[in-house]
Amino acid sequence: MNFSDNELKILIDRSDCEQLLFQKADKVRRQHYGTDVYIRGLIELSNYCKNNCYYCGIRCGNKEIDRYRLSKEEIMSCCEQGYGLGFRTFVLQGGEDVYFSDKIICDIVSSIKKIYSDCAITLSLGEKTYSSYKAIFDAGADRYLLRHETANPAHYRQLHPDSLSIENRKECLWNLKKIGYQVGSGFMVGSPFQTTELIIEDLRFLQELQPDMIGIGPFIPHKNTPFGQHSSGNLNLSLRLIAILRLMFPHALIPATTALGTITQNGRELGLTVGANVVMPNLSPVKFRKQYELYDNKICTGEEAAECRKCLEKRVKAAGYNIVTHIGHVKK
Ligand code: SAM
Ligand code: FES
Repeated sequence: MNFSDNELKILIDRSDCEQLLFQKADKVRRQHYGTDVYIRGLIELSNYCKNNCYYCGIRCGNKEIDRYRLSKEEIMSCCEQGYGLGFRTFVLQGGEDVYFSDKIICDIVSSIKKIYSDCAITLSLGEKTYSSYKAIFDAGADRYLLRHETANPAHYRQLHPDSLSIENRKECLWNLKKIGYQVGSGFMVGSPFQTTELIIEDLRFLQELQPDMIGIGPFIPHKNTPFGQHSSGNLNLSLRLIAILRLMFPHALIPATTALGTITQNGRELGLTVGANVVMPNLSPVKFRKQYELYDNKICTGEEAAECRKCLEKRVKAAGYNIVTHIGHVKK
């Protein structure tokens, strides 16, 4: 569906017609994906990061956390466990950790692919050069998640230090597309200084990019960041945006994010009922979970992978949908 800026403004700002919006979005979701919910096993490789994004709990300026990185053996063992639990996509996410050179990442990716040839590998490791992205793609990676964070240059400056730019972020996204990755982008809802006009710019950028995956979730403050005193993004605004995205991008893979489940107990279930069709339970070793704290009070930091999987199964069922064991590519 195509909306004018005026229509978007009304849909974003007004809660009085949101029930209708939610119903429409669910109808569109069911037309394309039925009640299927795809699961992605999230493996948080490292909480080292050379960047210093003002919102992020693992920014290099946060001296209060213990840093960790997983070994190849630990990563392979997460995949083994995940495969047994029905995961057919592994998402390797982390801060921009210089230890993970192209050579190391390519070796990890090709080793996973060799054993689990029926699985997709998604990476979410931040900004890299064209040649790095290409080498990792050639090693077997299928998808890449890189939220644009905000499409507006001035707002981007308010959220990031000068070493990062929206121009480079967007160029990375275009490069990923050119190489042949299935690409995911997105933004935080309620990030400091965000306005309705800025959200409309984000939606317009996504229309230009035409990503396969769109991840949005509420901003949540982390106490050891410059934005520690800001308030969290709003639940219903986050839900309205998921629904708007479903209508604008009927085929997209849209996760009900952990951040949504953190701001309210049944946030992920609510996300599923308004258009989301993906959940990303954590497969990282429990002993490191707390250290990958992007924001305060992040959920699912104490449970084993099998427990998380079972818990989500129940939650998804209760919301009226079904987790499927499937590679879960985008349906076009
Ligand atoms: N380094 C990679 C990157 O930059 O894309 C991946 C890791 S980064 C922590 C993953 C995502 O977490 C970011 O794109 C950002 O939108 C989200 N994030 C970071 N801090 C957050 C916060 N305080 N609240 C909500 N989401 C946050
Ligand atoms: Fe690097 Fe957040 S600042 S992952």
